[in-house]
Amino acid sequence: MSTKSDVRILLLGDPGVGKTSLILTLVSEEFPDEVPAKAEEITIPADVTPERVPTHIVDYSSQEQDEETLQAEIVKSNVICLVYSVEDEDTIERITTFWLPYIRQCRGEEHSNPIILVGNKSDLLDFSTMETMMPILNDFAEVETCVECSARTLKNISEMFYYAQKAVLHPTAPVYNPEEKELTSLCKKALTRIFKICDLDNDHLLNDDEVHLFQRKCFNAPLHQQALDDVKSIVKRNITDGVKENALTLKGFLFLHTLFIQRGRHETTWTVMRAFGYDDRLQLTRDFLYPKIMVGSGSTTELSLQGIQFLKMVFNKYDEDSDGCLSPPELQNLFSTCPVMPWGQDVNNTVCTNPNGWITSQGYLAQWALTTLLDVPRTIEFLAYLGYQYLHDSQVSAIQVTRDKKIDLDKKHTSRNVFRCHVLGAKSVGKTSLLQGHLGRNLRYLATLEREHLSTFTINLVQVYGQEKYLMLHEVDVVVSEMLNPTEMNCDVACLLYDVTNPRSFEFCAKMYLKHFIDSRIPVLFVAGKTEYPAVRQDFEMTPAQFCQKFKLPPPEDFACLDKINKDVYIKLATMAAYPNLKRLVHMLLVRQNPLWLEENIRHVRDVVLQNDRLFMKIGVGLAMATVFGFIVYRITKALR
Ligand code: GTP
Ligand code: MG
Repeated sequence: MSTKSDVRILLLGDPGVGKTSLILTLVSEEFPDEVPAKAEEITIPADVTPERVPTHIVDYSSQEQDEETLQAEIVKSNVICLVYSVEDEDTIERITTFWLPYIRQCRGEEHSNPIILVGNKSDLLDFSTMETMMPILNDFAEVETCVECSARTLKNISEMFYYAQKAVLHPTAPVYNPEEKELTSLCKKALTRIFKICDLDNDHLLNDDEVHLFQRKCFNAPLHQQALDDVKSIVKRNITDGVKENALTLKGFLFLHTLFIQRGRHETTWTVMRAFGYDDRLQLTRDFLYPKIMVGSGSTTELSLQGIQFLKMVFNKYDEDSDGCLSPPELQNLFSTCPVMPWGQDVNNTVCTNPNGWITSQGYLAQWALTTLLDVPRTIEFLAYLGYQYLHDSQVSAIQVTRDKKIDLDKKHTSRNVFRCHVLGAKSVGKTSLLQGHLGRNLRYLATLEREHLSTFTINLVQVYGQEKYLMLHEVDVVVSEMLNPTEMNCDVACLLYDVTNPRSFEFCAKMYLKHFIDSRIPVLFVAGKTEYPAVRQDFEMTPAQFCQKFKLPPPEDFACLDKINKDVYIKLATMAAYPNLKRLVHMLLVRQNPLWLEENIRHVRDVVLQNDRLFMKIGVGLAMATVFGFIVYRITKALR
């Protein structure tokens, strides 16, 4: 569980205090009468140490080492045992006058590497020096604890090394402030986040079931009901409002951890922290936030079923009034386990909202689909903040990496669910309106929105042959003469939009097509915008319809969105994206305007597609499918004649 792979303990102190004797006594379990000036570095294997980490013990001798090596050793160590002799006042004084300031000088004033004060030769005194050491513990935060021992009588020898190891693995400074007798604010923040993740029903209480799950996740062992009842009664007895409705409140949860630490059981709190991905400084580790995921250049990233289910669960947890939307406070709460709010105001214009502009459940999932497509590390990072790993394994299981697109094209089948459409067109042809229409917003509604919060992306679900797919629209700002860069070309379908009221706008699209798309495998749909107005003659050598026919493209699709939005555009774009090979078929479907005919064929095609999905899963061979698809195309072509 620990983030440390090994522990390096350095013994420092004035000559003759017994450093070398302590080390040799630990190793041989008897007091050596004669010792060398400096003991060799020893390594204790993990399985014989109490915390199961390899531990190196390093001696220091001013006779054998110069100052430079001393400084290097101080920097290299994880914990320092600062040894003095209990019967030698001078060595006690030197702790504060020399050693502690010297260590700060080497490690920096604010260093948090723990130091343990070790009073050796306790066999020579019949009283304790602990009282005199207490002020030092208060004045120097890096001093973790103080222990008296004797190499001669072997008293507290293994304890001293255990404290040293524990100080490294379960340091006090990050979690507890001894002066205030309180958890540090970072520790409270982390525990509050943990509490929220474990409070699965969001009632601000940890009930017995939630505590049992917490116990199993963090300690990998069940908690007996009696023990849990005892814990609750301790909390009840010590503070008010620590327990409500027989369940732990956040206040009670924080109190418990304070108690653990005050009783020297730091490891309990640290085990919890580590189970939730925190490192020694109470920051989430990189490994926890960004588990590795391999995505080939031709592949895309989507949420897996498990990822979607988790995010839905989170939505339902925070949709407190169950109205299917997240009000601004609900949205804030949902992301309260994250360091920042990941979504800006433009999100409300990227996905579906209710009339108040609050994100709906569908919009919420669409936004995650978008983030996962464009920036999968961000999805993975936020899944970690939201507590994905508390309920599942690594966030990698929330992500589906799709097969290389080239293979999809060759096998004429895709199992992708999120498709990318780039919308191109001259200035003012209505690209933004087309994007917003995808969210069901007409021009009248659009006029009420603030332009600066509009996004160049929108994403929504579209039915493709009876299956729900996400279609992402992205408005690409280009000038005809410019080359499109690889990112701008990276889409599953291109939408070339012109304006029937602007005579120069088709030429822009035609040139775009000839320059960038004619030789690509990207399907292209020409869209004639603003069709609620009379069309003017396009200033081009051919009409749009002739142009499309000449290049075997589907005829231009009309689009209007002043009031009623023509949604067919989105269905067609999504279908072309999902079935790029079926150029011909889609084309045929689009040519025929008879809705009944269209429906029938869609049903037929869907049946075959579904059948093939099944077949594909069963035998995993794409060959058979290619034949079947070839057959449908043939049949439909024949029927049209
Ligand atoms: P340098 O290497 O010179 O820095 O000294 P050191 O800190 O390594 O001390 P070392 O272990 O050499 O011990 C110094 C003397 O103290 C030796 O004579 C030890 O026998 C004696 N000594 C060490 N530990 C104890 C102890 O617990 N009790 C008693 N009575 N004597 C001890
Ligand atoms: Mg020595």
